[in-house]
Amino acid sequence: MEPVKDAIAKRAHVGTIGQYRALYAQSVEDPAGFWAKQAKRLDWFVDPLVVREEEEAEGTVDFSWFGGGKLNAAWNCVDRHVAERGDKTAIIWAKDEVGEYEHISYRRLKQEVCRVANVLRAHGVRKGDRVCIYLPMIPELAFTMLACARIGAIHSIVFAGFSAESLKDRIEDAGAKVLVTANEGLRGGKTIPLKATSDKAVDAVGDLVETMIVVRRTETEVPMKAGRDVWLHEEAARQRLSCPAEWMDAEDPLYILYTSGSTGKPKGVLHTTGGYLTYAAFTHELVFDVHEDDIYACVADIGWVTGHSYIIYGPLANGATTVMFESTPLYPDASRYWRLVDDLGVTIFYTAPTAIRAIERLGDEWVTKTSRKSLRILGTVGEPINPGVWQWYHDVVGNGKCAIVDTWWQTETGGIMISPLPGATPCKPGSATLPLPGIQPVLVDDEGNEVEGNDVRGNLCIKGSWPGQARTIWGDHARFVDVYFTRFPGYYLTGDACRRDEDGYYWITGRIDDVLNVSGHRLGTAEVESALVAHQAVAEAAVVGMPHDVKGTGIHAYCICTPAWEEKDRAEVIDVLKKQVREVIGAIATPDRLMVVPGLPKTRSGKIMRRILRKIAAAEYDDLGDITTLADPSVVEKIVDDHKAGK
Ligand code: WTA
Repeated sequence: MEPVKDAIAKRAHVGTIGQYRALYAQSVEDPAGFWAKQAKRLDWFVDPLVVREEEEAEGTVDFSWFGGGKLNAAWNCVDRHVAERGDKTAIIWAKDEVGEYEHISYRRLKQEVCRVANVLRAHGVRKGDRVCIYLPMIPELAFTMLACARIGAIHSIVFAGFSAESLKDRIEDAGAKVLVTANEGLRGGKTIPLKATSDKAVDAVGDLVETMIVVRRTETEVPMKAGRDVWLHEEAARQRLSCPAEWMDAEDPLYILYTSGSTGKPKGVLHTTGGYLTYAAFTHELVFDVHEDDIYACVADIGWVTGHSYIIYGPLANGATTVMFESTPLYPDASRYWRLVDDLGVTIFYTAPTAIRAIERLGDEWVTKTSRKSLRILGTVGEPINPGVWQWYHDVVGNGKCAIVDTWWQTETGGIMISPLPGATPCKPGSATLPLPGIQPVLVDDEGNEVEGNDVRGNLCIKGSWPGQARTIWGDHARFVDVYFTRFPGYYLTGDACRRDEDGYYWITGRIDDVLNVSGHRLGTAEVESALVAHQAVAEAAVVGMPHDVKGTGIHAYCICTPAWEEKDRAEVIDVLKKQVREVIGAIATPDRLMVVPGLPKTRSGKIMRRILRKIAAAEYDDLGDITTLADPSVVEKIVDDHKAGK
């Protein structure tokens, strides 16, 4: 058990475990009172009349927060800070170019957001319209998302590493009539052709997208389609610096964010305004123990939920200084993060275990040659952190002086759910520790019974609602109910397996479904499989996870080739198929290992035995279990031999 550090506890918002326990008890005894108080963090145009409502009807699930309340998320993240701290830096943009930073004050942020809001309005965007944003980590991304919030448009941000096809699917599903992109992105010294990808995606959706607004990030010229494409800087120059903020209902949608599930296409998780923002602000302050003078850096990409909640909405709602990091952890070398910390005096740093592992393996000197003395709190998110990696983060990066917060949450939860509080919770490396106030995790057995007590395991579910909870899946409420509330009625199903140890600490042990966690990013095996079978070379494909030193989980694909492709050069086929996945989904989904196999292990009823494929992928050949019931056991022997031979 790693004790809480006195120096951190002394100035913390919650400074003892007793204080945490008292707060927790109060939050579950009187949730309405507790959350009503948290909602007061925000400026409301009209105060909410009720805290939480639930509609009861057979076969569906429906809840809402802060009914009757009216507010605007951009107002809360920007305008209200201008009077008090107008000159304070809201955003520090850390450019891809080493050592180059741009500071944007709250005052300037307001003007930029208003200008972009006026541009969107000039192109016909109104309350409730969807705007798709496909931008790299540049300030215009923050301006655009807040501009949407300001005028009540719903943003749908697509990570700039996704392919044209993924972008197209998301534009189509959300029905976005405006796409905001850049001529190019710049990352790790390499350019990313965002406009070209956007053109492909937009051309594929007919005339759905009326306007493409393009940010100029590099000097590269790109073709602009007359009547459809406009430059943001030219449009913005024509606009006023002020724009009225739309009065939004607490339950009006704020954004859609697509995430992978175990079946089908990615689903558009919908977050609303009042509850989400309350929860993002509350958790950001509590978990990162944020104070007025902090320099806070979450180095995720805004294309993921971590960036939404903990680069933009949480920090800005709290009037903090937040960093937008455009580059990568290893560019130009493994000191990049710590150079950023020293250059800016970062006090709170938030990243993913995969990045820490990638840096750790290159040796301590990349870290130790930097000072890092400004750091106070170090966070992780996205996947379980290996205890050894936790210790290294603590001892080497944090010099043994920083609090580590291992934060468990999901796109659907809107914000952090289980995490230590830096001034209060003694840590156990590898455990996300205890639930935040207001959050009631439960472990449920496969029959749907709550598993009581400690030293137990089960399916991690959440009892009751919390303000940051996703309200629906865009355009498919039935799927929302089905995925999260049907298997264990009465609970929200997280999809994670979990252990609660003898001290009541939570340990996430993996997914219970076919979702892979690759470098902290969620990918459905079904998505990768359908990308593979979409190629004429593939008759059938099965995808499983495999242990990977840096990514946590790597992608292992098994493909049966169509007759015309069976005789082709193996290495070539493998290359073609890896490229296929990259093109259909994006580079993050590229299989780490792809095998061409003569068949797949199937039961006599034709079901693929993934359990066996996972064992082979992990090189656990002696642990395959009973294979005699398979339709054709010889397939397994052949796959094992080929796997051993590295084919
Ligand atoms: C996993 C990211 C262990 C988990 C915010 C979850 C974690 C999924 C942790 C959500 C953690 C996230 N420890 N596992 N601290 N944080 N996960 O939606 O499997 O991209 O269900 O949200 O990541 O991923 P998502």
